[in-house]
Amino acid sequence: MISPALPELPDGVTVTALRDLAVRLATAAGALVREGRPERVVVAATKSSDVDPVTVMDRASEDLLREMIAAERPDDAILGEEGDDVAGTSGLTWVLDPIDGTVNYLYGVASWAVSVAVVAGPPEPASWTVLAGCVHSVADGRTWSAGLGEGATRDDVPVRVGTPTSLGASLVGTGFGYDAARRAHQAQVLAQVLPKIRDIRRLGSAAIDLCLLADGSLDLYYERGLNPWDMAAGAVVATEAGAVVTGLRGEPATTAMTVAGPAELVAQLAEILEAADADGASSPEIG
Ligand code: IPD
Repeated sequence: MISPALPELPDGVTVTALRDLAVRLATAAGALVREGRPERVVVAATKSSDVDPVTVMDRASEDLLREMIAAERPDDAILGEEGDDVAGTSGLTWVLDPIDGTVNYLYGVASWAVSVAVVAGPPEPASWTVLAGCVHSVADGRTWSAGLGEGATRDDVPVRVGTPTSLGASLVGTGFGYDAARRAHQAQVLAQVLPKIRDIRRLGSAAIDLCLLADGSLDLYYERGLNPWDMAAGAVVATEAGAVVTGLRGEPATTAMTVAGPAELVAQLAEILEAADADGASSPEIG
């Protein structure tokens, strides 16, 4: 995919410097969460449903990210999963997921990450330009990062999306929401997709899923219901690795739907997802 045009940046700011900061932020928060993980993680609160948890370390991780951003880029805005939005004056917004894959973190399953991105424009996936991002998989230390127009790396080695031969031979990542009605609908959609692909993977962190797509460990990815912080950093890693990241019916990737992968296969998967009403365009009552 061709990178979007680079928007005008504040004086003295470069994509490279923003990417470096994203990496420093994500790895610092990752160290905090890794070292502070108690023997038995407990739920501090729940959010959108009883099975949508927040832990003490989600909050501690986001607090650290916010403190570091305030110290290094005090004029930038912040959109984070666990705290209030912070307004800025620079036109840049940091989009933070202090632990993506919180359920995995809670249960001790290894797929969870700190995800940090910085965007220009309105802090909404439909209209932002992601300038740089880092996804740090804390349990195993893998760190993906990308800067707009700079390409994407895993542990400083350039990555590219895979070259699956067909949809039928493609390994597809996906995820499910926290709401019961939404999940029932997602299961119906999955029933349409599964017979037409190699297999499905539900690994539990959308940010890592997008990075696995970027380095060829998954062939395609789709999910309904991603929040801006779930997708921001992973999306720039994926696009800089050659993926298309889009919605259905020609829409950009948003909370309604994110589909990612090599262009031709994304088009084929999108056709199946549209026919299954995977973004709920024809059934808003399902949620
Ligand atoms: C969740 C994970 C999961 C995805 C959910 C997200 P959280 O983020 O990314 O893989 O399926 O849609 O909400 O709640 O762990 O930050």
